[in-house]
This record gives sequence, C-alpha cells and structure tokens, in this order.
Amino acid sequence: MNKKTFIFDLDGVIVDTAKYHFLAWQNLAKQIGVNFTHEDNEQLKGVSRVQSLELILGWGNKTATEEEKERWLHQKNEEYLAFINKMDESEILPDVERVLQFLKLNNQNVVLGSASKNARPILEKVNIMHYFDAIVDGNDVSKAKPDPEVFLVGAAKVNAINKNCIVFEDSVAGIQAANSAKMTSIGIGEQNVLNEAEYCFIDFTKISNEFLLEQIKN
Ligand code: BG6
Ligand code: MG
Repeated sequence: MNKKTFIFDLDGVIVDTAKYHFLAWQNLAKQIGVNFTHEDNEQLKGVSRVQSLELILGWGNKTATEEEKERWLHQKNEEYLAFINKMDESEILPDVERVLQFLKLNNQNVVLGSASKNARPILEKVNIMHYFDAIVDGNDVSKAKPDPEVFLVGAAKVNAINKNCIVFEDSVAGIQAANSAKMTSIGIGEQNVLNEAEYCFIDFTKISNEFLLEQIKN
C-alpha cells in the first residue's frame, strides 16, 4: 500500500472553534470601539492571532501602542482559553474520527498543520492526540498561511515529499498555502468560498472511504 501524508488543519476542520474565536474577538472589538461582524470573522480564519488583531484595528481605523496590543492579545486568548477548557469529544466535527481511523488503519501518515498556538491543548481536550504522527502549530512556524511553511514543516517531520501530501483546510489562506506547496488541497466548507481547492466537501460526512483510497493509490 502507498504511504501518503494527510495534513489536517485544526480550527474549522477537526473542531468548530471558529465560534469561540469569534466571541472572544467580538468582546475585544467592542471594548476598543470597533464594529465586528460574522462576515468580518471569515477573513480571520487561518490567520494568526497577531495578524487578526492588526486586521481588526485596521477595520476600525485604530492605532495602538505595542503595550496595548500585547495586553489585548493576552485578554483575547484568556477568554478563548476559557471556552477551550470546557471542550470535550462531543465537539469533534462529524465523521472526522471515522476518517482519522480509516487513514491509520491503512497505515497512512496523519499530521496536524495549524496556525493556532493552542492546538496541542485542544487536541488533548477532545482526546484525539494519538492519531497524529506529527504536529505543527503556531509555535513552530514564523510565516502565516497563505505561506506554505506550516505544511512544509509538517511534511518534513514525516519525511514526505510535497506531492504525496493531501491537505484538509477550511480557510482560503490555507487552501492557497497547500496549492503553493504543490500538495493536493481539499476544502472543507462552501465551494463558492473555497473555489481554489482541488476538491471541496461541505464536511467529512461527504468524504467516502473510496475517495480516501483513491487519494492513497494515486
Ligand atoms: C487558526 C484560526 O487556526 O488559528 C484563526 O483559524 C486563529 O482564527 C489562529 O486566529 C491562531 O489561533 P490561536 O489559538 O493561536 O490564537
Ligand atoms: Mg481552519
């Protein structure tokens, strides 16, 4: 059997943490007097914490000192962590575990490629750490998606070549990162948003074992 490397984004792919990021950013935005909607939140998907704050400040035409930014980033993360601490297995998105189990059963590499600095505690909270052969998160890379660094480091950790990697992503920036690394990109979400993805599925319930086998064999 061929060995391929399946790289999973975390937020919005394995767990629906986007809603917690949204609530925490929304509170901060309100406090600093910036209007922040669900549509704005789409643009923060896949984007690092620091860059997210810069975008929010830009939308409100606000300037801030480095000290203020540090304080706000800390505050946002503390609030986000309060949500994370309450997470359990029930927050794993539908059929994600079926796909993880199928890939491990077929002796495939499974890697995490996330922009989040909170990735490890989240994987522990929802009890799926054991599926991963390697983990690359926001602590391991300096260039944010759409730069492919996070996926390139992930591939290197399991000695895989790029063209043998398949990436699951819910963000536009993440799909662009996978494409520029010449990896197979699979969008998880709306086709009209993720139109640069090679394949797109609304969620993992639509990804059959046959489709996964095709990816392994090709
Ligand atoms: C990405 C999320 O996975 O991680 C972004 O899509 C988030 O919304 C980014 O800003 C950084 O996450 P964290 O947990 O390090 O603040
Ligand atoms: Mg994501």
